[in-house]
Amino acid sequence: MAKQGSLGLGSFPTTRLRRNRADDFSRRLISENVLTTNDLIWPIFVMDGDNRREAISSMPGVDRLSIDQMIDAVGEAASLGIHAVSIFPNTKPNLKTPGAEESFNPDNLLCRAVRALKKSHPNVGVICDVALDPYNSDGHDGLLKDGIILNDKTIEVLCKQSIEQARAGCDIIAPSDMMDGRIGAIRKALDEKGFESVRIMSYAAKYASAFYGPFRDAVGSGGALNGDKKTYQMDPANSDEALRETALDIAEGADMVMVKPGIPYLDVVSRVKETFGVPTFAYQVSGEYAMLKAATDNGWLDNDKVILESLVAFKRAGADGVFTYLAPEAAKLINSQ
Ligand code: PBG
Repeated sequence: MAKQGSLGLGSFPTTRLRRNRADDFSRRLISENVLTTNDLIWPIFVMDGDNRREAISSMPGVDRLSIDQMIDAVGEAASLGIHAVSIFPNTKPNLKTPGAEESFNPDNLLCRAVRALKKSHPNVGVICDVALDPYNSDGHDGLLKDGIILNDKTIEVLCKQSIEQARAGCDIIAPSDMMDGRIGAIRKALDEKGFESVRIMSYAAKYASAFYGPFRDAVGSGGALNGDKKTYQMDPANSDEALRETALDIAEGADMVMVKPGIPYLDVVSRVKETFGVPTFAYQVSGEYAMLKAATDNGWLDNDKVILESLVAFKRAGADGVFTYLAPEAAKLINSQ
């Protein structure tokens, strides 16, 4: 960091940075980043049934919703200014297999949810995760054989999954599996089927993080998972590697990239945005939500203030948008500012 003096930016006492901070109007004028509802992507968990909602104990305030309830919830979110959602299915255990065949069943829960949602709210952007963990009896994002995750065989299944999601009406395919080479293969598979306008947002730098625990409760993949995901998700100690991952995904055709988790990885968001200048997103994950709510529900932190502070931090780091379970709450706060 250059010294202020050497940049000709003045020095104390002629320069007093508190002057600009003295009044609300002045703080607004010098504000460098703004969080708007355009920046929010709301992840939602869907489940089977009618008129049902089920609490997720590790994510207080977040419920799994049946498709009809999800549609109502998306309608409310849209009226708050949230224009994009990401749908995750809680697949019944009896549908999970080692080959994850349910992932490309055109009538699986996710595809039904997407069809219903695009019918009722055609202008809301729908993002679908591509990975096998909700459908795989091993709980992994890829196919497991003799203790090894098979990269290229997994990609074949991911391509079939992506095509069914696109066919159901998904706008953005978001591969979260971290197999090598999947973006190029999925792009080709989509184009061959005439889905060249379906976008791909790659989970480009996705870390092997313990902050995903509550999400695995929510989709019901945690119980099945034996071991960890370290042979495909990244080591939290690395960030040069994140740039290589991102460069490959862009070269293979990713329209947008994502870094995940969020707040503990804002340095990575910042490096990715500065290096590539492509649309860059971050995911404030389930464990981050759980931490924040544990503190606010106990009265240890001020809920509304930490929500907005935690989200503007993503903008400051350079993110163009953020996946957050706080989206509806944040939208209400933004709209009342
Ligand atoms: C599945 C997937 C995960 C998340 C998004 N997609 C979990 C994982 O990789 O184990 C985590 C989201 C969250 O924690 O909120 N591939």
